[in-house]
This record gives sequence, C-alpha cells and structure tokens, in this order.
Amino acid sequence: MIPDATIAEVRARADVVRVVGRAVDLKKAGTLFKGLCPFHEERTPSFTVSPTRNTYHCFGCGAHGDALRFLTEHEAMSFPEAVRALAAEVGVEVPESRAESPEERQAREAKRSLTARLLAAQDKITAYYTEALFGPRGGAARAYLKQRGITRRTAEAFRLGWASGDKADFARFLEGDGDIALDDLVTLGLLVPPDEGFRDGERLGGGYLRFRERVMFPVVDIRGEVVGFSGRILDPHKKAAKYINSPETPVFTKGEHLYGAHTARHAARRAGRLVLCEGNVDVVMVYQAGIEGVAAAMGTALTPAQVRLVKRLSEQVVCVMDGDAAGAKAAFASLVPFLEAGLQPRAVMLPAGEDPDSFVRAQGLEAFEGLVDAAPPLLDLYITRAGDEHPADPPGRVAALRHVAPALAALDDALTLTLYRGKVAAALEVDATLVDQAIEDAKRAAAESRARGAGRRSALREAAPAPRNTAPPPPPAEVPFEVHFEPPPPFESGPPDDLPPPFLGDGPAAGGPPPADLPPPRPEVRPLRVPRYARELFEFIVQYPHLATRLDVEDAHICLTHEGLAGFVDGLCREVEAGRTPNVDRLLSNLRDADVVAFLRECQARRPSQDGSTIEQAFDDAHRRVRVGSLEAEDRRIRDAMRAAWREDRAAYVELAERLKSIRVQLKHLHSPSVEGAR
Ligand code: UTP
Ligand code: MN
Repeated sequence: MIPDATIAEVRARADVVRVVGRAVDLKKAGTLFKGLCPFHEERTPSFTVSPTRNTYHCFGCGAHGDALRFLTEHEAMSFPEAVRALAAEVGVEVPESRAESPEERQAREAKRSLTARLLAAQDKITAYYTEALFGPRGGAARAYLKQRGITRRTAEAFRLGWASGDKADFARFLEGDGDIALDDLVTLGLLVPPDEGFRDGERLGGGYLRFRERVMFPVVDIRGEVVGFSGRILDPHKKAAKYINSPETPVFTKGEHLYGAHTARHAARRAGRLVLCEGNVDVVMVYQAGIEGVAAAMGTALTPAQVRLVKRLSEQVVCVMDGDAAGAKAAFASLVPFLEAGLQPRAVMLPAGEDPDSFVRAQGLEAFEGLVDAAPPLLDLYITRAGDEHPADPPGRVAALRHVAPALAALDDALTLTLYRGKVAAALEVDATLVDQAIEDAKRAAAESRARGAGRRSALREAAPAPRNTAPPPPPAEVPFEVHFEPPPPFESGPPDDLPPPFLGDGPAAGGPPPADLPPPRPEVRPLRVPRYARELFEFIVQYPHLATRLDVEDAHICLTHEGLAGFVDGLCREVEAGRTPNVDRLLSNLRDADVVAFLRECQARRPSQDGSTIEQAFDDAHRRVRVGSLEAEDRRIRDAMRAAWREDRAAYVELAERLKSIRVQLKHLHSPSVEGAR
C-alpha cells in the first residue's frame, strides 16, 4: 500500500499538461490546451486540458481526470504503477509499506538497478537488430517481410529487426554504443557462454549468440519496455524451431506478457475490445489491416497473469482461433480462467487451415471484422461443442454436463448463470435441475481441490523448518533446449533408458499383506504410490525422524502425494519442532492406512547407505537423488506426451515443451557444483 499522503503529494506535483502532452498533440487555446481526444475517434478537437485545475476533460465523450487517471486510463497502467511512475518523474519518494531492513532495501535497490540495466540493454539491442534489418545486410529479411506483406511502417511500429548472428558484427556493436557486459547478455539469454566460462581474448568470450539468422519480434510490455524477444526463422525447411523465444530472465516471464500489449493499449480501450490471436505475425498483420487493438499469447494457453493483462486492456475480448484443433483447444483452455476473472470472452473459429494472418490477407479487413463483430460468447461455443461431441444417450448427456459444469460454476453473476442454466438444458436436452446438480457438483469439486491444495501446502509449510540457507541458486539464464515445432527430436541429454519404472505399483507396497489386527483402510484413501527412487528417503526418516523436517514443499509431488504418508511426515515434523523426539513406533501404530504402515515398516527394516558422511549429508544426497529421479521421470513422461501431442495438439505441445524446459533448468542446477557446495 502506498500511503495516501504520498498519493496526494504526487497528484499535487504532477503536471497534467506534460503527462497528457506526451500522448496528445496539444495546442494552447486561451487558458486551456486543446487536442484530439485519445479516448474516442474525432476529427475536431473537443478534448481540453486545464493547467489551472490540473485536469483533462473531453466534451465529446466525457473522459475526465487528472494525470494519474490519464496514466491508468490511457497508458493502461495499474494505479500503483502510475503513482510510482509519476512519483519518479516529479521527485516524490514512495516509502515502502512497512519498515525495510537495510538488507531488504539493498536487495530492492539492486533488483531495481539490474532491471533498469537489462531493459536499457535490450532497448539498444532492439535498435541494433532494427538497423540490421534496414541496413545493407538485411536484404533477405526485408524480402521475407515483403513476401509476408509486412510494410516498413508496420515493421517500425513493432520494432521488428534482423539478428544475423554474426559474432564479429555483434562484437563491433558492443564496442561501439552497445557497451553491455557479457554477463548481462548471458542473463538475458542472448549469449550462451562456453561451458567452462568466458575465455579471455576471444570474441564474445568464446560464447555463441542465441538468435542467429532470425527475424526478431521484440516482446514489448504495456509500458513500452522490450522485455524479451521472439525470433522467427526465415527458411521453414530448416531443421530448427520456427520461433525461439527469450528464456525466463529477470525481466521476462513468457506467461506474463502478451505480444502486442503495447501497440494495442490505446486502440483496445478506444474500441472497447481486444482481439486475441495466437501468433506474433497474426498480431502484426491484423494491426496493419486496421485493427490495432490486437495481441497474442505467443502460442500458449492463457495464464492467469495474461488474463489480468487482458482485463487491463479491455473488458471485452474476442479470441480468434486458428482453424485447427490446436486453436480451439487453446481458446477453450482459457475459458475458465477468463470467467473466473469476471470476463466473458467471445470467440471466432476461423475456417480450417486459416489463421488471422492468412485470413486477413486473403479475405480483407471487412470480412475479418465481420467475424469479430458477430463473435458469439466462447461459452456458447463450448456448450454447443459439448453437446455435439457426446452421444445422445444418458451416459453421453451426463458426460456432456460434467464437461460444461466447471465453466458454469465459474460464472459469478447470478443472472448470467440463470440464463446459461436454461441454455445448457436446451442445448444438451436435459432437465434444468440436472444442470443445477452438475453445477453444484463442479463447485464442490473445485472447492475440495482448492482446499486439498491449500491444506497440504499449509501443512508442509507448518512442518518445514525456519528458512534454511540451502535455497537453490537462481536458475541459469540459458537452457540448452528450445521449443521445437517439429516431431520431438532425439533428446541428446535425456535420462538413461534403464531408469527404474516410476512407481512401485498400484497395489499395496511390496512386503506382504498388512498385519491382520489393523483396521481396514478407509475407502477414500488412494492407493499408495511411492516412486521407487523416493523409498530411500523414507528409510532415512523412519530411522532418523528429525530428518523429516528437511523435506519441504517442493517434495509434495514427489513422495507426499498420499495423504497417509504426508500425515506421517507432518506428525514427525510437529514433534521435532516441539522439541520432542518422535516415537516412530507409536506414530505407526496410530496410522489408519495399512498400505502406509506396511511400507514404512519395510523401510524400518532396511539400512540407508551412509558411506562415511554424516547422516544429514547422506540424507541430503539421497534427497537430491530423489529430486533428480523424479524430475527425470517427469522428463520422460513429458517427452512421451509430446510425441503424442505433436500431431493433434500444438498448444499442448508448446506447453509441454515449456514444462520440459523448466524441468531441465531444475535438473541442471541440481547437478551444478554450486548447489552441492551449498549443501
Ligand atoms: P504458429 O505456428 O501458429 O505461428 O504459432 P504463426 O504466428 O502462424 O507463425 P507464422 O505465421 O508461420 O510465422 C503461434 C505462436 O506460437 C509461438 C509463437 O509465438 C507463434 O507466434 N511459437 C510457435 C513458439 O514459441 N515456438 C515455435 O516453434 C512456434
Ligand atoms: Mn501464421
């Protein structure tokens, strides 16, 4: 929270003429300034700015406010962002909400200066790419843009560029006005250093450039900062990913940005509508055709962060889906997040094989706009499809109801819900009371899954010891893996094929039937599945219970997915934290789940290997092996799924590839010596 006094001070000192004047061409008219209103279309100025009142007012559309309001309304900044931006401009210090320790303050300042430096660097690099595109060596790239129908003016609006990948040329840029540290280039994922680190005396320290021979699409955030890049290959037959993107960096998280957010921000507001496509080129071409309020999620299903961003741009959004299964899938996947955020998206499904780019080029703007204007609610399409795709018999109707119920449960407006209740009943040809029942079920399921997630998290958090200094280092900026849009490559760095099967099996753990005197397992308890590689951890824990507190929330998915086991670990942690020595046998005798007991008894009977180190070190080593084992198993599952998704579901494929990438980052730093050193 920013103190009210600070906000008042910022308001008082802000100069509305200066702030508005950056976006609107203002002419002095008496005591006022006048210009064309940026909030609605007009030919004669009815927009006025009053320096004495320090406000703007439009006699045409009624837009009205002060400098802060202008930044939130016109520049689509959030209120705190606007206050901070303006405060910096007028020299008001924004105090942090609570007292910071000197270390916190230092960390915050360091972060701020790193961000500023990285953004400045990317800005210069964008200019370098742009110069290359329009310079003597940009011929092939210019020809490519021309062939795709992108004009120079549009290219400039999106700051498109050309990354030749020529190291000598890039080095010259760095020596000239580039002046960017190699380490910063690494952090930005633009330069990949040699494995053993930079070598003195070599060009770019012996590293290689990530983007080579690619048309560059800078990802520009809503405030106009270049936060990352997406680079497209020229030759579609080349055996490489069609697009590669900046990796996650301190200034870029792919799932938090929309391509085109900056170019769209005014038009989307003015039109009261944002068009949402899938690809970068779609955005560029739809913009060029005349709909400037257009953005894209860069090929992935929308994240909640992106939904919030959409909401800042416009309350009304029209998803234009590529005419293929992947396009529909991606749009439908974003339905619930949209509804949960209180947005009611509309949607257009393009004819088979078309994307917005190809459609606009072939059919023109009017045809495209016609589709967008007439777009029905995405929810309606979803309901119709559920009806069509499930058989008309009772099991089919139930399945269709279950399919649409979560979306209905996400509607928070009672009137809308009532309306859809009738629509669904009619579309699926079922009684409306059945619809109510399905909604209730879906609501309960959603609440339960939330509670389960939160419950386990809080239990583990409670159980976890106070902050430990074993936090992993930040992930390396570069990952030797790209999102590939071709049949899954043979992964060079994959896990060995003789990895043990991930699970012990579906039934009770090996070790014979449970002792007869135990109560029967509760029916709702899921079968015990402990990954074989995770068993060693439990061998340690049952014999050295204090080690339980070294598990943390990240292990939840590895070995604590079973309530019985998680409860056991929680019990141990609680005892340890209360300063007592846990009595494992007593805890075991209180456990209700026979499978869990059998499994833990078996663990008790085995000696974990310790080879000379302290028990804590041995445990931590085992712990790391477990994480690696689990990540490697996940890695294999994802690659299998990618193979399956490659054909049918491009959006899922991209998402899987992203997950794979993040798993490889984690694996990389589990293997990295700095982590071992820290432990
Ligand atoms: P598309 O394959 O639909 O791309 O992927 P597109 O925009 O139509 O590309 P063109 O027209 O062939 O140039 C949609 C989006 O998915 C992301 C990109 O952001 C792309 O715009 N993507 C695609 C990747 O990140 N990596 C890829 O290999 C492919
Ligand atoms: Mn395309």
